[in-house]
Amino acid sequence: MSRGRRGRAKATPATGALLVARGVRKTYLTQAGPVEALRGVDLVVERGAFVAITGTSGSGKTTLLNCLAGLDRIDAGTVQLDGTDLHDLSDAQLSRWRARRLGFVFQHSNLVPVLSAVENVELPLLVARRADHRAARVRAIELLDRVGLRDRAHSRPSALSGGEQQRVAVARALVGGPAIVWADEPTGSLDTETAHTVMELLRALHAEGGTLLVVTHDASIAALAQRRVGVRDGMVVDDDLTAAIGDAAASTAASAGNPRR
Ligand SMILES: Nc1ncnc2c1ncn2[C@@H]1O[C@H](COP(=O)(O)OP(=O)(O)O)[C@@H](O)[C@H]1O
Ligand SMILES: [Mg+2]
Repeated sequence: MSRGRRGRAKATPATGALLVARGVRKTYLTQAGPVEALRGVDLVVERGAFVAITGTSGSGKTTLLNCLAGLDRIDAGTVQLDGTDLHDLSDAQLSRWRARRLGFVFQHSNLVPVLSAVENVELPLLVARRADHRAARVRAIELLDRVGLRDRAHSRPSALSGGEQQRVAVARALVGGPAIVWADEPTGSLDTETAHTVMELLRALHAEGGTLLVVTHDASIAALAQRRVGVRDGMVVDDDLTAAIGDAAASTAASAGNPRR
């Protein structure tokens, strides 16, 4: 598959889909031999969806998120996100595009320790030169307010609890108005109660129209999403959405006196 050629945004098919992944494969080459981490994944995510990617450790969840969000390259297939074929972009185009259009939350908040909460949140806007200092500060304070931490704006990460740090990371992910927020085990290092507070925050973003993809191995966290996609051995093995469509098709077929299978 060609890499690094100049990619132009292509129109997303008129399905309301924000993400369309087809036949995505990813193999890691290790000293012990090739590891097929993704073995042909198809996934369509509608605008405004809240999807949990679930599966046991090593099933391929992180690899899937990284490949769908353009943090890592794929070996085969296509990923179209908000009308752009990610893997047709050069590395430089892709990283600019990601910075402009996507927000990320990881297991560890990865805040810059020497910066205050508000400085951490405004940083992506300043690095991408998307706002001057004054506008970035106003926007960052709005986001801290949104995650309930306006009064901690000038605290350094070390003065915040793990849950508060993760809420700052959520504010930072949102500051640029991303098309999708991606989160990889965002509650993985939090206690159960704090984990649910962070998930409630993500749920509220979804309720306001945001699109979220959250990777988790924790079923109680996944239960808070609108749709669950199960991954095993690098493949999608269940999907609430296709299960629902399957049920509807089966009941339509049954009521027509023509049960399938
Ligand atoms: N950078 C890497 N190099 C080699 N193998 C990797 C790398 N990252 C992940 N893997 C392997 O790919 C498989 C899927 O890993 P991963 O996507 O991290 O799963 P999960 O996030 O579900 O725990 C595992 O077998 C893992 O060991
Ligand atoms: Mg992982």
